[in-house]
Amino acid sequence: MTSAVGVRVLRSVRELREWRATAGEVGLVPTMGALHEGHVALVERAVRESERAVASIFVNPTQFGPGEDYAAYPRSDERDLALLEAAGCAAAFVPSVEEMYPPGDDTRVVPGDIAARLEGAARPGHFTGVCTVVAKLFGMATPTRAYFGQKDFQQLRVIQTMVRGLALPVRIVPCPIVRAAGGLALSSRNAYLSAEERRGALALSRGLHVAEAEWQRGERGARRLREWVASTLAAAGLAAEYVSVADPVTLREVEGRAERAVVSLACRVGRARLIDNALVGMTLDELAAL
Ligand code: PAF
Repeated sequence: MTSAVGVRVLRSVRELREWRATAGEVGLVPTMGALHEGHVALVERAVRESERAVASIFVNPTQFGPGEDYAAYPRSDERDLALLEAAGCAAAFVPSVEEMYPPGDDTRVVPGDIAARLEGAARPGHFTGVCTVVAKLFGMATPTRAYFGQKDFQQLRVIQTMVRGLALPVRIVPCPIVRAAGGLALSSRNAYLSAEERRGALALSRGLHVAEAEWQRGERGARRLREWVASTLAAAGLAAEYVSVADPVTLREVEGRAERAVVSLACRVGRARLIDNALVGMTLDELAAL
């Protein structure tokens, strides 16, 4: 089936497999829809680097905990398809929940230590849901490469670790965070913010920027870097759920000197729970090569 705008819409695993059989080198961009410029950048890169790009649009119920925003998660399929078409994406895989989790499905992919902290600690079971759906998508689309944003840094590392651990034949391509003017990292959940909350939320990237600038000036103390972020948030009247300075490979907290680190935070702003991060002392290319 083809949408009004021309991108090939595949709703079943069978349709996806038939399309994939003649698609050559495929780049996959897994998404939960409500697409923004960050997703578009992933798709454009997949289009550039592959014979055909396919994006999945699936709000995955197993990665949401009780009381989280599964039901309220923004959905905008027609607009998403138009954006995919404009970005040159050849196909969109838009399955139902039953297609992804048919009756009798009870297998889950449970990640290890790398998923235990930060988002994994705040959202128990979240990364089991993410790994399960991403492993399914890899099995269904058998992509050559799959594209993930740095914005969900821990997700990126959890998936890299899963791919290596299960020897899955796919190359994970980490892509930079895309920010709005003022620095707010693009996220589908920004749709929950009022104009005033959006202004307040600029403190997240500002705090990270301050820590990054201090690191560039030679500050290596992990505790000091955390304090810079927390105090910038506090000055804006925000309290982080966590501010972390962790090793970018293991995601274990750095206690002494941070020669390389991912500085990350989670913070509630209104009804949105936002996350953001900055990578220092290591590049995304180095991360891609792990
Ligand atoms: O990052 C997301 O949007 C989701 O976690 C993903 C990778 C599409 C899995 O549902």
